[in-house]
Amino acid sequence: MRLHLPRKANLQAWLLFITLLPSLLSSCTTSSQKETQRSERGFTAQKAMVVSAHPEASRIGMEIMQKGGNAYDAAVATQFALAVAFPVAGNIGGGGFMVYRSATGQTGALDYRETAPGAAVETMYQDSAGNVIDGLSTDSHLAVGVPGAVDGMVKVHEKLGSLPWEDLVQPAIDLARNGVVLTQKEADGLNDAKEAFLENNKHVPYLVRDNTWQAGDTLRHPDLARTLERIRDKGRAGFYAGETADLLVEEMKRGGGIISHRDLENYSSVWRQPVTGTYKGYKVISMAPPSSGGVALLQLLQMVAPYNLQEYGWQSTKAVQAMTEAERRVYADRATYLGDPDFVKVPVQELLDKAYLEERMSSMSFAQATPSSAIKAGALPVYESDQTTHFSIVDPAGNAVSITTTLNGGYGSKVVVEGAGFLLNNEMDDFSAKPGVPNMFGLVGGKANAIQPDKRMLSSMTPTILEKDGKLYMVVGTPGGSTIITSVFQTILNVLEHDMTMQQAVAAPRFHHQWLPDEIQHEPAAIPAGVRSELESKGYKLHERGTFGRVDAILVLPNGSLEAGADPRGDDAAAGF
Ligand code: GLY
Repeated sequence: MRLHLPRKANLQAWLLFITLLPSLLSSCTTSSQKETQRSERGFTAQKAMVVSAHPEASRIGMEIMQKGGNAYDAAVATQFALAVAFPVAGNIGGGGFMVYRSATGQTGALDYRETAPGAAVETMYQDSAGNVIDGLSTDSHLAVGVPGAVDGMVKVHEKLGSLPWEDLVQPAIDLARNGVVLTQKEADGLNDAKEAFLENNKHVPYLVRDNTWQAGDTLRHPDLARTLERIRDKGRAGFYAGETADLLVEEMKRGGGIISHRDLENYSSVWRQPVTGTYKGYKVISMAPPSSGGVALLQLLQMVAPYNLQEYGWQSTKAVQAMTEAERRVYADRATYLGDPDFVKVPVQELLDKAYLEERMSSMSFAQATPSSAIKAGALPVYESDQTTHFSIVDPAGNAVSITTTLNGGYGSKVVVEGAGFLLNNEMDDFSAKPGVPNMFGLVGGKANAIQPDKRMLSSMTPTILEKDGKLYMVVGTPGGSTIITSVFQTILNVLEHDMTMQQAVAAPRFHHQWLPDEIQHEPAAIPAGVRSELESKGYKLHERGTFGRVDAILVLPNGSLEAGADPRGDDAAAGF
């Protein structure tokens, strides 16, 4: 058994590599350069692997498979472990999406996205004059959607699991009782959120310390351990009924929230058909609505397929242009057409139609940028926070699971259910606070994503699996709000077109265009200076921002072993055997 964390030295090497990569790859890639790249493999394992945002969660998932559990068992254990070890995004008070591919090639998807409470109304975040009230959809008890994570894990276990349920929840209980040693990033995250924890709760949550948290401190979760014990002993009823439900509804009443016992009893995650497509012979399997992720990813891949990205070179002017122009058009579609398919008609087939996508790219020119104002008018994309988390798993039989799960913002609404020790999401902000009018972040969404009782809010989460020649090839996904889709898109192209290893593809700097604002957002090293000048001369606006996404992926190598891509932007880690 092996557990692999990107070490500081590795990280420095990666940062150096990231800085040098544009010049390495700006011209035609030679075979010796390809050899160098291939030698930069991530952690490899022979049979099974978990890559997640936290080493404890990856270890727990791996140990489940060592005890004979399959990838689905490991996924359940990892989801619960992340709720303890990675409270900024791991959760039982949020939701997510799972895409899976069995060892025999069957595919499926589970939607355990949160829903709007039954008492939600379209104008609930507006004052009497119709103005959106600042902070209500993000930092209040009203921001909370009905959690889906526990129901989702119960459904995964019922349909696909093999070990007893209790065995999958117990490791998270132990972790909650024994505590988790904080890294510097985690201590900083808790300290930064201290004010919001105090403001958003009537009690002082256990995540707050009189003094500041330091790296090396141990964070224990005694109330969460008891909640997990109820989930271990009673399954779904341990969360949606009885003591946990009572505590959650009491918390709502204390803080002016609207989730009721009826909402908790009625919550049900939904098995859905994943969306599928092909890219140059690779089959791409991804999440269907109410996530926009899968549809948008398939649109992007189809739109850039006619362009020879490999010949243009990684992050060359032409490659950035082709990808940016596709992204601009896809995000315009997303804002207009995507929503919960149980409430609005989402024209998935039409959006993925080959002729439609060719027509969409027909106005693209390498001579100059297409201004976003020239692309179909519609609402702006909805703001989404980047505090989500993804994990990828492959088991010894070859079953694969790709899960992205979220509280939305960092620590969600920052509301901790008193006595139950878990954080609640602020996923309601993924709805349009007011369709057609900018929300508190200066952005708006379309009518398709308006609030309705029991409806699921639109998502960008893109848990994805690739097949090559009918066999499992890659498991990939990331957090990152609206940048999720383009981060997954680039990671896939980095491997398929630019011959990177999984670790290189995950670590490589990224850029992003989402139609509006009309700018290429990019990590510091993503656009080399020469390319930047060329793009600007063609009318592109560039906006350098901090890092985005934490891609955690697994690649099946030609000899059948597994290579991890654990994102060095976070504390992400791979474990395998
Ligand atoms: N809350 C982020 C997303 O669902 O895309």
